[in-house]
Amino acid sequence: MPFIPLVPFSELPDNSHKSVRFGSKTVALFHYGGVITALDHACIHKGGDLGQGVIQILDDGERYVVCPWHGWQYNLKSGQAPFGYKDRQAIYDVIVDNGMICISEEPVKQAFKAEHESDPIADLRNLDYQLTPTSLNVLGISATNMNRDLPRPSTSESALQNALDFASSKFGAATKMIRLRDLNFRHCEGYYSRHEQACTWPCSISEMDAEDGMNEIYRSLVLWADAVILATPIRWGNASSLYYKMAERLNTIQNQITIHDKVLIKNKVASFIITGGQDNVQGVAGQLNSFFTDLGFTFPPFNFVGWSRGWIAEDMENNYTRFFRNRYVKRSVMDLVTNSMQLVMQIKKMDSSDLQAPKPKISEAGTLNG
Ligand code: FES
Repeated sequence: MPFIPLVPFSELPDNSHKSVRFGSKTVALFHYGGVITALDHACIHKGGDLGQGVIQILDDGERYVVCPWHGWQYNLKSGQAPFGYKDRQAIYDVIVDNGMICISEEPVKQAFKAEHESDPIADLRNLDYQLTPTSLNVLGISATNMNRDLPRPSTSESALQNALDFASSKFGAATKMIRLRDLNFRHCEGYYSRHEQACTWPCSISEMDAEDGMNEIYRSLVLWADAVILATPIRWGNASSLYYKMAERLNTIQNQITIHDKVLIKNKVASFIITGGQDNVQGVAGQLNSFFTDLGFTFPPFNFVGWSRGWIAEDMENNYTRFFRNRYVKRSVMDLVTNSMQLVMQIKKMDSSDLQAPKPKISEAGTLNG
């Protein structure tokens, strides 16, 4: 097989590697331990540039390049993934001729991407939607945080539970509550910051970790729910940190739109319950609305219930009682659910003749004391 001269030997000193383009191809050249090797530069996972990878010596004593996007590893000499994996990166023969590093015109071993017998996230990968033309699946997501062993009353979560109960009793909806604090999941690791294509669906963290708690959110939010009600406390003027931890992991959904024109969430309805002892209901609602619309959600009118007793209401031990005594809260939660359900029905062309217009009434607003 003919060899193609690529770069002068002097441009690839020992202990270095880089990608080099020739014609329509690019190879990653490695010079370690006095040996020069060449792999196809585009990682077989999602195309990360191995020429920008990190070199590691693994337990077998061999050198591997670690893909900079999500960490797949390939032996520098054989292109093979570590023991236990059958994947292989394409490799080229290399010679040094007349001071030039030359590689074989074609790979001497082709890339091989192994089929994995069981794929725990196949439903996410294949987008196996569980919706039907008449389903009314309502997902509640509670973003409040608390000590699991010392639970305390939560206004946002209790209102959310009431909302789900009402959706079930009034509309016959199937309901599901997810408490973010019960899920173990990693924060978004920002792979898109290296390259936009490195943010994948399913999320590469889900691919790495079948136990990733976000898989429950992805399944419920993308594949199952017709309507989502998110409930959050206000913490320093914003939704809770748990909400943001989840929201950042939903980049995987939003980036499919920006990168691939692929909208995973269509004809789904979102609404919010936002409660705080102090203020900024509108600020939080604005943030939630702008993010959820960017995910593809549709909103009913009056799509959030807000509750705040104001900056000086420090008597938080009384907040929960006051919250549930308040007529505005009771009515607004029911109206929130009703409008969400009605919009789902409109979208599905089911009967929906009962849209509410729940403007808060001063008479129901209550005071600092009651
Ligand atoms: S693209 Fe290489 S590990 Fe994902």
